[in-house]
Amino acid sequence: MSILICGGAGYIGSNINKMLSEKGYDTIVFDNLVYGHREFVRWGRLIEGDLSDEEAIEEVFAHNQIEAVFHFAAYAYVGESVTQPEKYYYNNVACTLNLLRAMRRHGCKTIIFSSTCATYGVPERVPITEEMPQNPINPYGATKLMVERIFQDYSAAYGLKFAVLRYFNAAGADPQCEIGEWHIPETHLIPLVLDAAAGVRESIKVFGTDYPTPDGTCVRDYIHVYDLATAHLLALEYLQKGGKSDFFNLGNTKGTSVLEVIEAVKQVTGREFKVENCPRRAGDPPILVGSCEKAMTILGWEPKYADIQSIITHAWKWYQKLAEQL
Ligand SMILES: NC(=O)c1ccc[n+]([C@@H]2O[C@H](COP(=O)([O-])OP(=O)(O)OC[C@H]3O[C@@H](n4cnc5c(N)ncnc54)[C@H](O)[C@@H]3O)[C@@H](O)[C@H]2O)c1
Repeated sequence: MSILICGGAGYIGSNINKMLSEKGYDTIVFDNLVYGHREFVRWGRLIEGDLSDEEAIEEVFAHNQIEAVFHFAAYAYVGESVTQPEKYYYNNVACTLNLLRAMRRHGCKTIIFSSTCATYGVPERVPITEEMPQNPINPYGATKLMVERIFQDYSAAYGLKFAVLRYFNAAGADPQCEIGEWHIPETHLIPLVLDAAAGVRESIKVFGTDYPTPDGTCVRDYIHVYDLATAHLLALEYLQKGGKSDFFNLGNTKGTSVLEVIEAVKQVTGREFKVENCPRRAGDPPILVGSCEKAMTILGWEPKYADIQSIITHAWKWYQKLAEQL
C-alpha cells in the first residue's frame, strides 16, 4: 500500500514526504514541477504529472494500491488569484475533481487536504476557531473553501473520509535543514526578511505601521513546517482509526508582528539591514491568529517549535545551505 502525495515536490508536501518515509510509509509524489523541485523528492517515487491530466492521475491509481492521499497541489499566490481567477479555479478546484474522481473509481476513500486561514477572510475576532464564518476575500481563499465544501458532499454521497487542515503561515525548515522554503517567486515574509539580512534585497518593506496592534504592524500566526508535518501524520492516523471527517486549524495560537519577525531575524542572523515603512496594503487584516485547541484535543497534536526564534533559526540555516547550492 502506498501514500500518494499530490504536490509533494513543493515546500510543505516534501516535508511531509520526508516524515512519512521516516515512519516507514511507501510514498508516491505526483507533481507537475511547475512550482515544485525535483531535488525535494528525496524519499519515495516521483511521478511527474499534472492533475489536469485525467489519464495520468487515473494511471497512478490503476498501477498502485493507494491507501490515502495528501493533497497539496494548488496555486497559492493571493495577488495572482485576483488578476487570474480562472487559473486558480481551474487548478485548485477543477483539478481536485479529477483527483477525487480517480480516488472514487479505485475505492480510495481517505484524503488529507491543505486548506488555509484565507478561507476565513477578515475574522470577527481572534483567535479564529474552526466554526467561525468563512468569507474569503480573494479567489485563492474561495478555491480552498469550495474544495472543503466538495469534500463534505463527497463524504455524504460517497463515503469520502477527509481531514481538512487550515494552515496559518507555514515557515522554517525541517530541523536537519534538508527541505525548506524555496518558492519562486517568494512572497512570504520570513524568507523575504532573510533576503534582506543576506543582502540579496536592499531593504525590507513594512506595509502599514498604524494598525490597531501593539506595535502598529500586522500580526500573523507562524507555524513551523515540522509541526505542520506531525499534524498531517496524526490526521492520517486519526482517519485510519475511524475518526470522523473534520476541519482543523494549524497555527501557533500566538501572534507575531512584522516588526517582531524583523527583530528576530536580526538576532538570529546577527545582521543589520534597512527597514522601510510603507502605507498599508489593501486587504491585509490587522491580526490573523488561529486557535489550535481542536487539533490538540482531537488529534493529540503538540507543536514542538512554537517560538519564532526556532522557526527563524531553521529557516536561516536552510537559506544559507540553499544559497551555497545555487
Ligand atoms: N505556504 C503556506 O504558508 C501555506 C499556507 C496555507 C495553505 N497552504 C497550502 O499548502 C499547499 C502547499 O503549499 P506550499 O507552500 O508547499 O506550495 P508549493 O507551491 O511549494 O507546493 C505546491 C506544489 O503543487 C504542485 N502543483 C500545483 N498544481 C499542480 C497540478 N495541477 N498538478 C500537479 N502538481 C501541482 C506544484 O508544482 C508544487 O510543487 C498549497 O495547497 C497551499 O495552498 C500553504
